[in-house]
Formats: sequence, structure tokens, C-alpha cells
Amino acid sequence: MSADLIITNISTIYTPYKKPPVHGRDMMSIHEIHHAYMAIKDGVIIAIGSGNYHKHTGPNTIIHDANQKIVIPGLIDSHTHLVHGGSRESEYKRLIAGTPYLQILAEGGGILGTVEMTRKASFNDLFEKAKKSLDEMMLYGVTTIESKSGYGLNLDHEIKQLKVNKKLNQVHPVHIVSTYMGAHAIPKEFKDDKDLYIDQMLLDMDIIKSENLAEAVDVFCESGVFSVKDTKRILSHAKALGFKIKLHADEIHPLGGAGLGVELGATSVDHLMAISDQDIEKLAHSNTIANLLPGTSFYLRKKYANARKMIDHQVAVAISGDYNPGSCPTENFQFIMQLASNQLQMMPEEVLNAVTINPAFHLGLHQEKGSLEVGKSADFVILDAPNLTYILYHYGINHASDVYIKGKPVVL
Ligand code: NIG
Ligand code: FE
Repeated sequence: MSADLIITNISTIYTPYKKPPVHGRDMMSIHEIHHAYMAIKDGVIIAIGSGNYHKHTGPNTIIHDANQKIVIPGLIDSHTHLVHGGSRESEYKRLIAGTPYLQILAEGGGILGTVEMTRKASFNDLFEKAKKSLDEMMLYGVTTIESKSGYGLNLDHEIKQLKVNKKLNQVHPVHIVSTYMGAHAIPKEFKDDKDLYIDQMLLDMDIIKSENLAEAVDVFCESGVFSVKDTKRILSHAKALGFKIKLHADEIHPLGGAGLGVELGATSVDHLMAISDQDIEKLAHSNTIANLLPGTSFYLRKKYANARKMIDHQVAVAISGDYNPGSCPTENFQFIMQLASNQLQMMPEEVLNAVTINPAFHLGLHQEKGSLEVGKSADFVILDAPNLTYILYHYGINHASDVYIKGKPVVL
């Protein structure tokens, strides 16, 4: 079978190969193929190896010479708040002066400030702003993202956000997995009646499910936001409706959200800066991914999640960006990987598994994405670097020179 496209003269391809979820010490396992090529037909990898590629060429095959650059799978950012109105630099001076994140929220700012701006924004405003950010993420090698609602906090405005995800997924090359997060904060109009807000959210979920606007439901399980009891109620209902479930857990206070997530069969539990040892044990060997977000610790100047302890206890770890206007305003996913390496002390091999195959697994995409193997989608990044470690070592810049999604160049 002749290929449509062959990438030749690759110095090294780095790819995960273990069956996901890749737990703990197995995250050190990756394949390195030297003097490599990759042959693609109809957006799918048909051959990958080293040496002579000529048997895959035909009269119409395009040859792309990688010029001794390296190749890795397309990056998967499995936790973003891509769609939102406005920005929050008005809070920045208070933040760096030491005002706690939850205090700003309790005063009606923080997430609730973005809710106001998102409600005021039209569908088109939100679409254009999100598209610009998505273009930027793609420049850094991101080929799949998860994108949450959670800045509308009522049915109409949550649906407006989810429909932006849907339209972007139709018109933009980056693949988008949509999550409903009505449980991101308690809106002003329900300030003194959280239970009533939850009642309403459970009804809204039926509609979101019937309109097929989200695959998963997420809850911010935190002091002053949604308690463990609230979270259990919301996620049990979501699960019964057939949604995947996930949580923002143990970010600031160790409430036990991660353990609850494992018990309920969450696909991921995210943040985990304050996770207890007992909950690390629950996560070990489970199919629930620990989705760590070091960009948030950096920006909020909080402690980092203890990735080493989790990996050493056989937890399957993913790294995500958490792009949002209040706790991680950056689209630079390579910087997030550099933080995972330098601050979470994750080895380059562990970082690669954490931004490819493990996020593909918890998003349910691991049959087609997350590693470079025959039969998988040709989503990959060509990086102008001599080796994998170099992209983590030389930080703050963009190493991606070409990005391909389903065998098509989207950044050249
Ligand atoms: O994942 N922790 C809660 N939610 C977001 C922040 C959202 C915001 O501040 O606007 C997060 O960090
Ligand atoms: Fe988040």
C-alpha cells in the first residue's frame, strides 16, 4: 500500500507504547526509533520504523524531509477552560500581594467575575476568543484538548459555551472533547441556596445529555464551593445519565475528593496539590488518572502536587494546562511540560506519557490517539531539538516546527 505522505530523515521518534493507563514506574517506558520515517495514508499511520521507506512510496506520495528533527505524538491537553469571556488582570495585583484565591471568589470576584463577562459575551465573541487561544495552543503542538463549560452557571449560558466547543470541533483541526461544569461555582442568584442550584443543575444535565453537548461532567469539590456530599450527589446523577465523571479535587484543602473519584469511577481527578496519602493509595493501580496541573501552582504561587510520590506509588499520571483566566492564563503547553519536569521532578519519559497516552486514555481516545503506532491517527509534532530532554531543558520557548493532525499539516 503506498502512502500519501512520508516523513523522512527524522533523527528520533519518541512514543509511548505501553497499554494505557500507564501506571507509575511504567511511565519511564517509551520507544525511541532512530533514523526514522513515518508513512501515512488517509490520515492514519501505515508504517513507522527506521531505514528504507521506499516500499511505501507511490507516484503520488509526498515526501517531507524532517531534516534530522525529532517527532513526538500530538500533545493532549486534557483539562482546559478554553471558552470564557474577558480576562482578570484586574485581580492580578491583589493576587501577587497575597490575597487568597478563595477569598477573591467569596467576595464575588474570581470565577464569578468571569461568569459575568461570559454571560455578557455573545456566542460569536466567545467563539472568536476561544478560537484565537486554540490556534495558539496548536502552535505549541497541542492536537487534542478537553474544554469545560462552567462560566455560564445557568442553562442558557452553559449551553452557549458548550455550543462553542461543538462548533470549534467542527471547524478547527484540533479535536475537542466537551465537559459540562455547571458545578464550577455557586452563582450569585443562588448564593444562599446551594441545594436549589444543585436541583436545577441536575435537571439541566438531562437536557445537555439529550442534546449530546458534553461527554463528561466535572465538579469543583472544595471548601466554600461544592462539598464532598454535594459532589457525590452531582456526579452520581451524571453517572446514571451516562456521562463520564471527573472532579477538581484536593486542590486547596484535602477534602477527599480524589478518593471519592476513585470510588465513583471517575476518569480523572484533577489538581491534587493537597491529596492525602490514603487517597494516593486509592488511586494506585486504579483506572482513574491523576491529572496534575502545575501551571496553576506556578501562577497562584501554591505548592506543587507531589507527582513523585504518586508515580512511586503506581498512580497513572497525566499533565494538563488548565488554561483559564483566573488560575492559569497561558496557552503555552510546552511551558506546562517544563514545569512538570522541573518542579514536579518528572523525567522526560514520564512527562511524555503524561501528555499523550494517559490523557488519551481518560478522554476515551486511546484507540486512535496518544501514541505513534500503525493504525493510529497521524497526529504528531516535529520539534527542532536534538532530543526529548532538550525540549524540557530549554524552557519558555516554542520548539514545535511542524504540527500535523490526521496527516494534514496545520502548522508549518
Ligand atoms: O481549575 N479551580 C477551579 N477552577 C479553575 C479556575 C477557574 C478560574 O479561576 O476562573 C481551575 O483552576
Ligand atoms: Fe480547572
